[in-house]
Amino acid sequence: MQSSISFILDGKITSIDFGKAPEIKPTTTILNYLRSLPTHKGTKEGCAEGDCGACTVVVGELGLDNRINYKSVDSCLVFLPMLHGKHLITVENLKTPSHELHPVQQTMVETSGSQCGYCTPGFIMSLFSLYKNKNKPSREEIDDALTGNLCRCTGYRPIIEAAAKSCVHDRLDDFSNLEPITRNLLQSIPKESLRIHTPQQLYLRPASLGEAITLKHQHPDAILVCGATDVALRVTKQHELLKEIIDLSDVSELKQITESDAELRIGAGAFLSDIMPVVLKPFPALHDMLAVFGSQQIRNLATLGGNLDTASPIGDTLPVLIAYNARVILEGVNGRREFPVEDFITGYRTTRRKADEIITTIVLPKLDGRSWVKAYKVSKRKDLDIATLSGCFRLELDNHSAVKMITLAYGGMAERVKRATKTEQFLLGNPWNREAIENAMPLIDSDFTPISDVRGGAEFRRVAAKNLLLKFWSETNGQS
Ligand SMILES: Cc1cc2nc3c(=O)[nH]c(=O)nc-3n(C[C@H](O)[C@H](O)[C@H](O)COP(=O)(O)OP(=O)(O)OC[C@H]3O[C@@H](n4cnc5c(N)ncnc54)[C@H](O)[C@@H]3O)c2cc1C
Ligand code: FES
Ligand code: FES
Repeated sequence: MQSSISFILDGKITSIDFGKAPEIKPTTTILNYLRSLPTHKGTKEGCAEGDCGACTVVVGELGLDNRINYKSVDSCLVFLPMLHGKHLITVENLKTPSHELHPVQQTMVETSGSQCGYCTPGFIMSLFSLYKNKNKPSREEIDDALTGNLCRCTGYRPIIEAAAKSCVHDRLDDFSNLEPITRNLLQSIPKESLRIHTPQQLYLRPASLGEAITLKHQHPDAILVCGATDVALRVTKQHELLKEIIDLSDVSELKQITESDAELRIGAGAFLSDIMPVVLKPFPALHDMLAVFGSQQIRNLATLGGNLDTASPIGDTLPVLIAYNARVILEGVNGRREFPVEDFITGYRTTRRKADEIITTIVLPKLDGRSWVKAYKVSKRKDLDIATLSGCFRLELDNHSAVKMITLAYGGMAERVKRATKTEQFLLGNPWNREAIENAMPLIDSDFTPISDVRGGAEFRRVAAKNLLLKFWSETNGQS
């Protein structure tokens, strides 16, 4: 076990021994670490909660195929030990030793993509990530890459133009040229478990599932983190000192995604951005929901296990997992337990997980051809917003076009994500027509008593919930 971390910064290995650097905590974020260095002030803090993108950096990691994958992340949400064994790239690292700008920087200059410049390093890093991952990206891909970056003065047109002009790979950039050296450096960092013990904190980063399960048994009160997109806010916003942490982000078993004819099994620690391409065909409603989940920087960190365990009434994936009849697998030293996601969530931010258990897998059974599933998120803006309410609905019709099976799972309507069971009961056996839907819509009022909060009034939620049902009918009507 190691008590210090190593990662690549500025082309060389940087090590931090937390025992010898008391000013740095294991829960210090990459952003705060960078801001403490004289040479890395380019990475900015805007919100410290993942919403503005000013702190965007790119993290390179060796994949199973030995290639380096580059991902944009919000550095305000990443604890330093999560960097162990990876390559941290900041805006200062983009220009070449002979001071030539990277193509994404040069094009931003040419298109006048910056005014006050506060947001610019973050945009540059998102563009750099896009450059590394896409050649000639579509407008949709450009918009998606920039969703997590806010600019209050330039306006997006020149930035989008810079993306379209620069992400064209007519020559290799320096990072591609240096990849063999970077790969060797990454391989030289021992991939061991971490045990960082400071006078105030214990930060454990197991490298296998078995080890993670044993540690959770030994430290049942330790906070689990995987992407830390929820947990980091306890540090950056509530200034909590997290005493015991088990970081699951290096457990490769939790990242596995396997598919058979019958089902898809998704590791609880797989990043949402890695899940998206896999679910596109078999589970399009999950893909649609993930497409409006946070931003690319968030999806490059966030996991399904984290979303499930928060059991938030507006957790975006929960209605979708319920509609797809997904199951969740928990593991602890006393064995494995499995629940339908619907039964796993027991109340407002409570679940059936015991203190010594870890969510390991989410299982999605494949649908037969006669089912329709659609997901809806109602929020004040389309991207990077919290849902006011959400819904995911599943329908199966019999040979006479009557409702054989229906699931209406809603988020934001109760203390937890819940099905509209009375409305479902009414619709069962009825023809799938507008008249039946209009008769069913008032029943939503008997299923839910929503509250008013900053995101929307109770009346708005009631009306929107009914209209989502009507929308579902209009989108599935006549498709049988
Ligand atoms: C800017 C921003 C935008 C966001 N947008 C959305 C959004 O659009 N929709 C949405 O639903 N959420 C959103 N979130 C919330 C968050 O990203 C999700 O809940 C995410 O899925 C959490 O995953 P994580 O791995 O980062 O969880 P973490 O922060 O690591 O952990 C969250 C909780 O889950 C527990 N946990 C993590 N992994 C496991 C495991 N394997 N087993 C047991 N417990 C575990 C942790 O102990 C903790 O209680 C957003 C957050 C931010 C900061
Ligand atoms: S500082 Fe705003 S996203 Fe990190
Ligand atoms: S250039 Fe000023 S915030 Fe974007």
